Amino acid sequence: MIIFKQAADINGFITGEKAKGHSIGFVPTMGALHKGHTSLLDISVKQNDVTVSSIFVNPTQFNNAGDFAKYPSTIDRDIEMLENAGCDVLFLPSVSEIYPNGTQLQQHYNLGYLETVLEGKYRPGHFQGVCQVVHRLLKIVNTDVLYLGQKDYQQCMVIQKLIDLFEMNIKLIICPTLREGDGLAMSSRNLRLSEEERMKAINIFETLSFIKKEIKAGNLDKLKENAFKKLTDAGFKVDYVEIADAGNLKLQHDWNGKTKLVTLAAAYLNEVRLIDNIVLDF
Ligand code: PAJ
Repeated sequence: MIIFKQAADINGFITGEKAKGHSIGFVPTMGALHKGHTSLLDISVKQNDVTVSSIFVNPTQFNNAGDFAKYPSTIDRDIEMLENAGCDVLFLPSVSEIYPNGTQLQQHYNLGYLETVLEGKYRPGHFQGVCQVVHRLLKIVNTDVLYLGQKDYQQCMVIQKLIDLFEMNIKLIICPTLREGDGLAMSSRNLRLSEEERMKAINIFETLSFIKKEIKAGNLDKLKENAFKKLTDAGFKVDYVEIADAGNLKLQHDWNGKTKLVTLAAAYLNEVRLIDNIVLDF
């Protein structure tokens, strides 16, 4: 695996690969890699001539300084995992390499409704930071295909919107969420859970599964209330448990029994914020 730290160097390398007719697949990450990340790499390696990954803990997408400071870093292990997954190129930039003019937003991304709900509502500015870094990474890596995880459902929709807004010639592939044996979605933040919190954490997936099992056409408010209570009873501080149109994230109060839905939750166990979702296709 070739490791690049400078944007111009990796950009030149990619230009050379494209000139040879090689297809590029890109898996951006913030490191502290787990099997969820490598499952994205596996898909890219199968589908492309060259697979590129990046590790960059993006300061501008953290709306909580403590969360940024405590974001896990396991770089040596990450490099080993990337090599084992068959990754060809790693981009490992510094903050000044990504933000040579400083970390202030240079432009506002017009995300509309998407930025006003769920993660957008509870993490103000988060998606502006995500767009800022992903826009820059996509310009540098100049990929053909971008691989993102369904684990961050709303992020996938935001980044598709970014691609559309700037008419970038990039195909987005959304990959399934990898879970631990008990159903907990794999996440870098799971490393921060104590043993006791780790046992409680499964309640997020169980609550979303409860919604999937119980949902019926008609008013959904009682079901959402019960789900919220399940999480608070299990010791979570809940930001939201919601049911939304899977295509546009419009929150649902009355379901016609036909619209394809996604159920999503975000909740804290002490300091650690966990998110998860399930698409409700029956
Ligand atoms: P990070 O949280 O490191 O995630 C990198 C990619 O891995 C994202 O596309 C995420 O959805 C995916 N992923 C995380 N957990 C997963 C799981 N259990 N199963 C499958 N895929 C999973 O998301 C980010 O970084 C950042 O916001 C980034 C896009 C890199 C921009 O900074």
